[in-house]
Amino acid sequence: MRAFATPSYGPPEVLRAVERPVPTPAPDELRIVVEAVAVTRGDDRLRGGEFPGATALLGRALFGVARPRAAVQGTMFAGHVAEVGLDVTRFAVGDRVFGEVAHGAYAEQIVASETSALAHIPPHLTAAQVAAIPYGAVSAWVFLHDVAAVEAEQHVLVVGAGGGIGRYAVQIAMHLGARVTAVARPRHDATLLPLGLAESGGPHQVIRDRSALRDPADVVLDTSGSSHLNDWRPHLKPTGRFVTPDLSGRLLVDLLLCRLRSGPTVHFGMGLVTAENLSAVATLLETGAMKPIIAQQFAFDKLVEAHHCLHHDRPSGDVVVEVVPRPAGQPQARSA
Ligand SMILES: NC(=O)c1ccc[n+]([C@@H]2O[C@H](COP(=O)([O-])OP(=O)(O)OC[C@H]3O[C@@H](n4cnc5c(N)ncnc54)[C@H](OP(=O)(O)O)[C@@H]3O)[C@@H](O)[C@H]2O)c1
Repeated sequence: MRAFATPSYGPPEVLRAVERPVPTPAPDELRIVVEAVAVTRGDDRLRGGEFPGATALLGRALFGVARPRAAVQGTMFAGHVAEVGLDVTRFAVGDRVFGEVAHGAYAEQIVASETSALAHIPPHLTAAQVAAIPYGAVSAWVFLHDVAAVEAEQHVLVVGAGGGIGRYAVQIAMHLGARVTAVARPRHDATLLPLGLAESGGPHQVIRDRSALRDPADVVLDTSGSSHLNDWRPHLKPTGRFVTPDLSGRLLVDLLLCRLRSGPTVHFGMGLVTAENLSAVATLLETGAMKPIIAQQFAFDKLVEAHHCLHHDRPSGDVVVEVVPRPAGQPQARSA
């Protein structure tokens, strides 16, 4: 089968087309035909060996010191089940699934344990539409629902609202009943305004920077990596929460300082993909409360171009690579 290997850290050109044997599932595993795989900011950083700030040593230790430990990268995917191990009960051949593996999704087929981060694709959506959902939407769900515990009527600020996490955070905050202020550059307006944000008037607003903010927030989710609690402290209620996905030395200091003084608190979250939070976001997709936002789709042999697009263009939507086209006649919905 076709796959793409990353023999060294570096620019998109380090990705190499290779041939690999089709994997065989263990008794508790599924063999999945990968129809689509996402290229995310996380993939971009991993390929480039870019582990910023406080994660520099930990990143190399976990993912490989001199070169990536896993030859075939790619983590967020969608496809259909081609074979099940003898002990598998949750899935059947033909089921349409999406989820995350630790590595190896830049390949036509993968194996995954049935207890891993997998969920059924909502019937009306394609594999390409959901491939990136385990990244941005699950992270946004974890940060807003679990870490910040956003409640109805609260005022939520999403900084970097046009990004991979931000564009789903806006939708999830609205679904949770919050009033949303999105901070984003004008180039993201075409993505954000159709979500129900307005440049002026209306409950949900898009602004360019904090100088335009009129009333304090209950929650600031900052995905831009360019600000800290102190930048937002004047714009947070005394009970407010500043949530960031970026681990930095400054964050560690802020976490410590928050224990010593009253006022807004700082929180770090890990967007860990589990079967449970995948099901939660799949329900949002199924009910229409959240929509996939795709910017660019590439064929599998254009994986290098897909990485280029993500790295240089930073498009206002997900970058998805179609790996194996769905075979004609394959059932669309999972079997009961
Ligand atoms: N902790 C976790 O589990 C976890 C999970 C996933 C991701 N992450 C990390 O979270 C971060 C965000 O990920 P992502 O995929 O959302 O990244 P992304 O797609 O690059 O989005 C970041 C957004 O921030 C915007 N931005 C940067 N500086 C800004 C500023 N001064 N004002 C307004 N907007 C600004 C960017 O705008 P432009 O596009 O206009 O430049 C971009 O839209 C990354 O560092 C990623 O590694 C952590």
